[in-house]
Amino acid sequence: MKVTLIGTGYVGLVTGACLADVGNDVLCFDVDARKIAMLEGGEIPIYEPGLREIVRANAAAGRLTFTTDAKQATRHGRIQMIAVGTPPGEDGSADLSHVLAAARNIAEHMDAPKIVVDKSTVPVGTADKVRAAIAEGLKKRGADIAFSVVSNPEFLKEGAAVEDFMRPDRIVVGADDPVAVTALRELYGPFQRSHDRLQVMDVRSAELTKYAANAMLATRISFMNELALLAERLGADIEHVRIGIGSDPRIGYHFLYPGTGYGGSCFPKDVTALLRTAQEHGLDLKVVGAVEEANERQKGVLVDKVLKKFGSDLAGRKFALWGLAFKPNTDDMREAPSLVIIERLLKAGATVTAFDPVAMEEAEKTYKSESGITFAGTAMQATQGADALLIATEWKAFRSPDFDALKASLKSPVIFDGRNLYEPAVVRSKGFEYYPIGR
Ligand SMILES: NC(=O)c1ccc[n+]([C@@H]2O[C@H](COP(=O)([O-])OP(=O)(O)OC[C@H]3O[C@@H](n4cnc5c(N)ncnc54)[C@H](O)[C@@H]3O)[C@@H](O)[C@H]2O)c1
Repeated sequence: MKVTLIGTGYVGLVTGACLADVGNDVLCFDVDARKIAMLEGGEIPIYEPGLREIVRANAAAGRLTFTTDAKQATRHGRIQMIAVGTPPGEDGSADLSHVLAAARNIAEHMDAPKIVVDKSTVPVGTADKVRAAIAEGLKKRGADIAFSVVSNPEFLKEGAAVEDFMRPDRIVVGADDPVAVTALRELYGPFQRSHDRLQVMDVRSAELTKYAANAMLATRISFMNELALLAERLGADIEHVRIGIGSDPRIGYHFLYPGTGYGGSCFPKDVTALLRTAQEHGLDLKVVGAVEEANERQKGVLVDKVLKKFGSDLAGRKFALWGLAFKPNTDDMREAPSLVIIERLLKAGATVTAFDPVAMEEAEKTYKSESGITFAGTAMQATQGADALLIATEWKAFRSPDFDALKASLKSPVIFDGRNLYEPAVVRSKGFEYYPIGR
């Protein structure tokens, strides 16, 4: 099938590459000329395991092409997938300006019937707005061309995006047009060969499903973070509690890890946007509101422990930070807990030397005009002469360090572990002062 991806970020590029990989003819369109030039030159603008290989293979096979030309993009695919960003607006609601700009582009250039698919995470009612924007654009041109608008939210996880797209646990399709449903069933056929994973529903339910999923996952995290705070006060170990409740099949083990708060490009903005949507409809979502509040508090927990140990004035102190990305296997630093940790340490007068296996380039861009932070070539180098090590991301490479070398490298053997990577008794027996979360 001929498919156009509008927006070539984490979702658009992964979707485009995976659809091309099963034989479709995919054109990826983006307004960011630098990104498209990189992709045309065989470079991948983001880090995502396995993505480079499939992008290169499918581009070489001629099934995956890139453009900044809106007209070419619109004319290419019968299916137009909108995967542009929906960042938070000033009041926290999702900013739909990119989505609606994409819709207007389609209206301006379409010359044949189209199936427009909203893949971006968008509030309930957005499909109606997209439909209205296209209808208005066509009317202006005096054109009468059929189109339908479908909601097909994306559930891939950064860090495992290719794998998730290739083996989805569900494909949610919100549509009121049976022709569009048939087209999407055909498009997704290769990704669900063992059994049908397509869940067809009305458009509004599909739009809400995405927010419900992210809010539920964020709820589990905030719940565990709160209980971790309580466990510390009670002298209990949250890791035992986690295993104790996770073994109940009604609860399960996923997303029960306490830490330094959730971050990333989705949970924070989607939780806030869901709250705003509810408010716009006269409803105050108590649980979701508390999830957000608990997360804000949790982001400060690790640095609070640092200040408790070293005092509120950190002038002259140097801290090593392992992990910048909001989670492992990605270079995405949007809303990462590391940002809050760095900001607070610098504000208290400390300097920071950070290391991340893949997010360093991203971090250097973020902190290019900041003098208190430097970046080390290796994890161990970051710790040289530091008053303590802080861990913000649970990268595999941090899980089993050479503790003797670490002790020798640090000025004082102190670890603030925001991801509970180590067994407290073991680390303490090696002579470290160890501050995990909730243990
Ligand atoms: N990143 C994730 O893990 C993830 C997972 C599921 C859903 N989502 C949702 O998918 C959407 C995209 O997220 P992302 O992380 O891929 O964003 P991103 O910021 O990585 O990419 C968005 C891209 O859209 C481009 N763009 C903006 N306006 C455009 C326009 N009018 N025409 C063409 N291109 C345009 C931008 O230049 C950018 O390259 C968001 O709504 C997000 O909430 C993201």
